[in-house]
Amino acid sequence: MTPTVAVLPGDGVGPEVTRAALRVLEACLPVGTREAPVGGAALESTGDPLPAETLALCRESDAVLLGAVGGPRWEDAPVRPEKGLLRLRRELGVFANLRPSRYLGLPTPLREGLARHADILVVRELSSGVYFGEPRELGEDEAVNTWRVTAEEVRRVAEVAFDLARKRRRHVCSVDKANVLETSRLWRRVVTEVAADYPDVQLVHRHVDVASFDILRVPQSFDVILTDNLFGDILSDEAAAVSGAIGVLPSAALGSGPGLFEPVHGPAADLAGQGVVNPVGAILTVGLMLEHAFGRPRIARAIESAVVAALRERRTPDLGGKATTDQVTDAVLRHLEWSRWSADSEEEAAQADWGV
Ligand code: IPM
Ligand code: MN
Repeated sequence: MTPTVAVLPGDGVGPEVTRAALRVLEACLPVGTREAPVGGAALESTGDPLPAETLALCRESDAVLLGAVGGPRWEDAPVRPEKGLLRLRRELGVFANLRPSRYLGLPTPLREGLARHADILVVRELSSGVYFGEPRELGEDEAVNTWRVTAEEVRRVAEVAFDLARKRRRHVCSVDKANVLETSRLWRRVVTEVAADYPDVQLVHRHVDVASFDILRVPQSFDVILTDNLFGDILSDEAAAVSGAIGVLPSAALGSGPGLFEPVHGPAADLAGQGVVNPVGAILTVGLMLEHAFGRPRIARAIESAVVAALRERRTPDLGGKATTDQVTDAVLRHLEWSRWSADSEEEAAQADWGV
């Protein structure tokens, strides 16, 4: 059966990057797509950043592709567009957020010798922590947020991180603030318990302040970084120093139902509508979808190679280039076509994964 993808373009540059990503997805696999509003776009049209129809569509699809939500327009709105995304994550039950960042041959703020060997996968807990804790309130002179996490929430995301580490360099760095926070002490205890089931994977614990310096100082020493919702939000942006830009980072959010796939970057309202936003984060996100939602790791690898090759020729302004979104996407498609042609000509690859 043809897999179905719910497409939620959202705000700012979201529609432009999802359009580029869909061109790549459709070149790899026949999919049925249906679009629905989310975030500010949904607030405008329905008054709700996650309308019931949008959620229903996501639930009945095999995967969800989301662009970005938010923007200065809704800075002071009574309901913020971001609420729609947070509710969507919660309703879909996605709890493990994979955010890979590796050297792509782009200029980076790090010393090249370090960046070149860096390949980091941040596994961010996505369903709990201070993002969702109750009570929460904003008063005139006081505001409250609650940081809450359960052992089960830590256990299930830790298992995802250790399973993924087994397919990589078998190293997990668990990041917390156990010298201050009770939630982190629970985190550390449960991660240590889970690690006992993975004797072949090495575990180290780091406090978040130390880890955030080490990502810049010795990025090549990390393999999988396992961390909480808020710490993961921050550290995954920081890990962009390895790739060179936030605009090239993809992400996948996995749970027991349909996965939610979105680039790490936000709506970048100042860039919207100009046709120059970097589509690479969204395109690599399609790679993660093919791998984790549709079981096609070989096509995912082909997309990554095509992106690296395309970036040698064409770069959007955020990477110091002059190319448009479409030109970069065209270049990726051209390189994909080439790798399909060479894969097809190899015999054992004949029954390859390509669906189109
Ligand atoms: C991200 C974003 C979101 C988050 C916002 C838009 C709610 O920053 O996906 O990294 O904080 O999780
Ligand atoms: Mn973020």
